Amino acid sequence: MTDNIKLDTNIVWAPGFAALADALSHFLTDLSPTKVMVVADFGSHTHCYPLLQQMLPEHGLVVLQGGEHHKDMEALGDILNALANLKADRHSLVINLGGGMVGDVGGMAAAMYMRGIQFLNVPTTLLAMVDASVGGKTGVNFNGIKNLVGSFRLPTMVLISPIWLSTLPEREIKAGLAEMLKHGLIADPVGFAELALAIQALVIPRRPLHELEFAYWIPHSVKIKAAIVAEDFEEIGPRKQLNLGHTVAHALEAEAQKAPITDILHGEAVALGIWVEAILAYRMLTLQREELESIEQACLALVPDQQLEVLIQAHPDDLILTMLMDKKNKDGQIRAVLLRKIGETLIDRPVTIPEMQWAISKAQERAKLMLQNRPKPTDQ
Ligand SMILES: NC(=O)c1ccc[n+]([C@@H]2O[C@H](COP(=O)([O-])OP(=O)(O)OC[C@H]3O[C@@H](n4cnc5c(N)ncnc54)[C@H](O)[C@@H]3O)[C@@H](O)[C@H]2O)c1
Ligand SMILES: [Zn+2]
Repeated sequence: MTDNIKLDTNIVWAPGFAALADALSHFLTDLSPTKVMVVADFGSHTHCYPLLQQMLPEHGLVVLQGGEHHKDMEALGDILNALANLKADRHSLVINLGGGMVGDVGGMAAAMYMRGIQFLNVPTTLLAMVDASVGGKTGVNFNGIKNLVGSFRLPTMVLISPIWLSTLPEREIKAGLAEMLKHGLIADPVGFAELALAIQALVIPRRPLHELEFAYWIPHSVKIKAAIVAEDFEEIGPRKQLNLGHTVAHALEAEAQKAPITDILHGEAVALGIWVEAILAYRMLTLQREELESIEQACLALVPDQQLEVLIQAHPDDLILTMLMDKKNKDGQIRAVLLRKIGETLIDRPVTIPEMQWAISKAQERAKLMLQNRPKPTDQ
């Protein structure tokens, strides 16, 4: 046995190639699936599939077009079609090789095919490693609304390995770091402070974020998420905390999809969302100014200029219109997760429309200022 570590009942950390091959081989031997179907997108197919392919028996393959725009019913239909064509049965296995997009759609296909078959998540983006692959939320966007259709279904196993990160663009690394900061803000104030410091130490001298000590930070972050999920799988209570920043984030993502606004990654929207919601928490709850400042500094370090513009240019009323459709709401009122302090949240906090308008406008004013003061590429 190699140096694999069990992070939770169905989550394995495989630090290198040999560990990954070993974990996969044990898993396949134990499960002995009748058929195996790999789901990837263009990116994970190019960068990760060639390596995984060597570790697999004969299998089918579906390659989806990547990106949030394609996390839809068509992608779901493509996977279901491929499973039917492969004559997959109830003892077959889906392997989701990719980021959160592949995991969400592939997981949903596995949850629906023959009323549910087993699936293995092999996350290849940082965001999927620490967040999307863990916890059993699957789904697709529908009618312009994020994750409107989906189901809860736990993967049979999640096999996390940092080997995939070497080809992941810096922007995607930052997006994953946003969800990792979120885990710290919810449940681990020391971890938040340390990670924020480690990020600043690389961002300020403009060194690659790939230098972060992922072998420590990924398992650390996964354990926080897994513990919260174990407490409340179907998100009736404490799991709602993981939606910190997401009320605003989902609205920004919907806004960015409207031409001519630019694209925004989920993690970038989350970084901005955490910040805007921290502004709200500073006004409405007990979050302190120094805490707000450290959140602002950590989150905004992860957002490029163009994506800061998405926030600046969005009309608060348009964002609020999307927020009113959020699954977390009740009785047509916006409900957000707000920080009482770093490490402690309040879930289901009603937020009035004027309060939300105020927080967005405040963030927009501040973001404009920060953008003016940011060093331009030619400044160095
Ligand atoms: N289910 C959940 O609990 C949960 C949690 C968080 C986010 N999500 C969802 O996850 C999605 C975002 O996931 P994401 O941030 O992983 O983005 P993503 O899945 O869209 O992947 C980002 C890009 O990276 C490419 N890529 C993947 N692995 C690569 C690698 N190793 N090297 C180079 N390129 C690679 C992909 O092809 C894609 O172009 C959103 O749809 C979000 O809603 C789900
Ligand atoms: Zn998220």
